[in-house]
Amino acid sequence: MKLWGGRFTKETNQLVDEFNASITFDKRFWKQDIRGSLAHVTMLAKQGILTEEEKEQIIKGLTSIREDIENGDLEINESYEDIHSFVESTLIERIGDAGKKLHTGRSRNDQVALDMKLYTRDEVTILKELVIHLLEAILKVMEENTETYMPGFTHLQKAQPLTLAHHFSAYFEMFKRDYERLCDIYKRMNYCPLGSGALAGTTYPLDRAYTASLLEFDGPTMNSMDSVADRDYLIELLSAMSTIMMHLSRFSEEIIIWNSNEYRFVEIDDAYSTGSSIMPQKKNPDIAELVRGKTGRVYGALMSMLTTMKGLPLAYNKDMQEDKELTFDAIDTTKGCLQLFTGMISTMKFRKEVMAKSAMNGFTNATDAADYLVNHGVPFRDAHGIIGRIVLYCIDKGICIEEMSLDELKEISPVFEEDIYDAISLKTCVEKRMTIGAPGPKVMEEVIANSKAFLKSL
Ligand code: ARG
Repeated sequence: MKLWGGRFTKETNQLVDEFNASITFDKRFWKQDIRGSLAHVTMLAKQGILTEEEKEQIIKGLTSIREDIENGDLEINESYEDIHSFVESTLIERIGDAGKKLHTGRSRNDQVALDMKLYTRDEVTILKELVIHLLEAILKVMEENTETYMPGFTHLQKAQPLTLAHHFSAYFEMFKRDYERLCDIYKRMNYCPLGSGALAGTTYPLDRAYTASLLEFDGPTMNSMDSVADRDYLIELLSAMSTIMMHLSRFSEEIIIWNSNEYRFVEIDDAYSTGSSIMPQKKNPDIAELVRGKTGRVYGALMSMLTTMKGLPLAYNKDMQEDKELTFDAIDTTKGCLQLFTGMISTMKFRKEVMAKSAMNGFTNATDAADYLVNHGVPFRDAHGIIGRIVLYCIDKGICIEEMSLDELKEISPVFEEDIYDAISLKTCVEKRMTIGAPGPKVMEEVIANSKAFLKSL
């Protein structure tokens, strides 16, 4: 059942077989393995290394294996060492001698490098799609909420008023960068390692550029040792996914806070909440918590991969087989989180009055009150002090600035006039912030148009 054994006189220890095997997890890319082999034999025949007839037989055999696995007529037999051995042995069983020529000019080292690349390349495309769906869901909230006032925070203390559109737009920017990072990775990884052999190329006259084009790569890789030893693209992908998860986790954290009994800014839909087995009143934000929790898993995969690679001499080493389970897990985790998170925010209800009230009650207009004084000739540092005293006065009385009478205000500074109330209303505070990137609804419309154009350009 092994692809090797000629130079061995003894059976391998059973535990060694189990420890060494990768088929339980690399069977995941059986389709990519067959695809790579189809391209390889097509190239071998074009170069006259295989006859047309041999090529036809191999293609027929590989196609039948693909169809049978797809239909469930052929089960991947886990007693083989890896998916490469399984496909090749099954081919030989089916078509005989011609099957033995499939591996001409190829090593499992360049084969696995190719399979993993083909697999992750497809996953990058899926991840990109999922990020787009998330961006669309965020954009929708932005469009509907350019005048939904809420407090903005620093140190998780109310700071200045802004809008829900503005808050979500911050996340739009983050996930937009994530999208672009995935595009960059795709571009950089899209070179074909097949034809690099075990490490030093082969003596057959392969046409590597042709194989690369058959597999929709931008070209062949340029160094055969690097080709079989390179897992940079996985590290880049794990890093990009870690960043996506970090963004999702921060967003989740905010949603958990907003959904808390104290804040009540949002209500997570029943379909995306869970209950308690003992406390009947509970409706918990488990999805947001799980997304936050799973972030550590993806970071762990990145650290694990970096550590696996750091001491490896060129070229291939078996350590690299460890790239698979953790990358697969990180991809599955990130895809799942993106999907669920998008569903959660698309169905979430925003309690607009609660948000506006919260912005009103937290002195978020204190900066604007100081600016009012500055506009009336008071130096900023003095204005800061005056408003500080006003805030203290309000805290003492349990009121907000706009609830003070003009007489009360004038007692602290005679500069105040009737127009102070308009100057520090939530609406004015937000509308006056109209430089690009600020929450003012007018400029927010520009940013929304921009964001829309970005999604349209994809
Ligand atoms: N299962 C191996 C891996 O995932 C395939 C390559 C094996 N090559 C070798 N020379 N043992 O890395």
